[in-house]
Amino acid sequence: MNLKDLYINFFVSKEHKQIPSAPLVPENDPSVLFNTAGMQPLIPYLMGQAHPYGTRLCNYQKCLRTNDLDEVGDTTHHTFFEMLGNWSLGDYFKDESISWSFEFLTKVLNIPVERLAVTVFKGNDLIPFDEESYNKWLSLGIKKERIALTEQDNFWIAGESGPCGPDTEIFYFRSDEEIPEKFDPEDNRWVEIWNNVFMQYYKDEKQKISELPKKNVDTGMGVERTTAILEGVNDNYASSIWQDIIALIAKISAKPYEGNEKSMRIIADHIRTSVFISADYAGIKPSNTDQGYILRRLIRRAIRHAKSLGIDIFSNWEEEIAKLIIAKYQKYYKELKDNEMIVYEVLKNEKIKFNRTLEKGLKEFAKAIKDKEMIDDLTAFHLYDTYGFPIELTVELAEEKGLKVDVDGFKKRFKEHQELSRTASSGKFKGGLSGNGEVETKYHTATHLLNAALKQVVNKDVHQKGSNITSERMRFDFSCDHKLSPEEIKKTEDLVNEWINEKLDVKVVEMPKEEALKSGAECMFVEKYPDIVTVYTIGDVSKELCGGPHVKNTGELGHFKITKEESSSAGVRRIKAILEEK
Ligand code: ALA
Repeated sequence: MNLKDLYINFFVSKEHKQIPSAPLVPENDPSVLFNTAGMQPLIPYLMGQAHPYGTRLCNYQKCLRTNDLDEVGDTTHHTFFEMLGNWSLGDYFKDESISWSFEFLTKVLNIPVERLAVTVFKGNDLIPFDEESYNKWLSLGIKKERIALTEQDNFWIAGESGPCGPDTEIFYFRSDEEIPEKFDPEDNRWVEIWNNVFMQYYKDEKQKISELPKKNVDTGMGVERTTAILEGVNDNYASSIWQDIIALIAKISAKPYEGNEKSMRIIADHIRTSVFISADYAGIKPSNTDQGYILRRLIRRAIRHAKSLGIDIFSNWEEEIAKLIIAKYQKYYKELKDNEMIVYEVLKNEKIKFNRTLEKGLKEFAKAIKDKEMIDDLTAFHLYDTYGFPIELTVELAEEKGLKVDVDGFKKRFKEHQELSRTASSGKFKGGLSGNGEVETKYHTATHLLNAALKQVVNKDVHQKGSNITSERMRFDFSCDHKLSPEEIKKTEDLVNEWINEKLDVKVVEMPKEEALKSGAECMFVEKYPDIVTVYTIGDVSKELCGGPHVKNTGELGHFKITKEESSSAGVRRIKAILEEK
């Protein structure tokens, strides 16, 4: 049995309910492009909302972290990965959580206790030493020399704000050398395999910490890393997860893995991630913004490395690799089979598009670097604009030749260009976070107007169920039991445009949550907000709890147009809309 199945079976035997993996592209959280941890889709429940499956949950979750994208190529980094997680929503706490982790590692995976070590939260001015976890580990037979107390690394939060708390991390000694008596978390022969977070706090945007209504447990174990450890390989890409994919790339390129590791790992990782992004039900396609831009970067980088391995780009190499990946994972992720043809099409179309200019672009690059120490902004922009080279690709090519690129200059040029063509913001440079550029801000405000208009036109019980904003459009999910009629759509559009034409002021105030709710302010997840909330009002048409940002006056929005109205799920409709130049 593989790790995923062993894990789920174990926690189900401890009365956990298995919940499905959420989509890679979050449905209700426009602040991140992709899920970066198993807990992310569970935030409303960690904040106190009741989960339909109960208080003990477990799953394997599709995750993607773009901050390490450029590191991929060594033995340990991946973009897409799977995370195993078990959660207590106000149910068990430290005692059971630590006992079960220990039991799973030593009894199910049969890891000898001598190979394990842990870190525990040392305490700081705000939060005390986690004595309970420390004593629990001792009682289970972890020697005190194998428990390190740290502060920085033992407090977990996803990003800047949200549910958080002290954690205890479990390490494995991954080396044939003699195991030192004393555990040193800085010694990289010790690798972290599991993180148990005791989530009892909420950190708001102003970094203020308050207690959550319930004490939760959030744990995460990386499938790729733990599998490599269990199989005793020091290169993650040599484990059973990657071995056959690497072997296929070696076969297609007729080159051995040894000596070509970097390119082969990049191709394996990037194609796998591209398969998962394009199979996601969100329907992401390569583009120049947001998730689409990440997908484009991944595919183009994989193509560049395939070319450097001498693979015939016009053969079906990318489909062969994708096919193997789908075959490996379809048992766990139904969308791979459902969207198999879409995946092949996305990869192929992007390949054709990039191939048209790749050869010429590489020649242009070679010409540009002659007798130069630096690639200037104009050249980098030319490579992007004319030859479709993502800036990161130019940087990588330059680094291989020991050259630097004027990336800041490029960004400036890029921004000017975007403003000129009025298409998108430069949000994609923010390391994977969706932008809060001017355009997105307008859509945020339009979302509030749409919410208010639907209440008037359809009925007052319409509530927001989700929202997603890119620089190109807004998407809004709301509770409603019927398909909107053309008249309802027209009336909604007209009302929003009327409010835009009235040039209403958008105002923000802070007030206690109770008071805000009493005054009738709209809000999606009551529990998601701290005690003091920010409330945005638009004229006297809309009042909502929201973190912003918003425009100052609705007159800035342009013309509002609904482009699509469709079903999202049972009892939930979805509207897509755009703002056009007036
Ligand atoms: N959410 C925790 C992590 O990602 C478990 O490490």
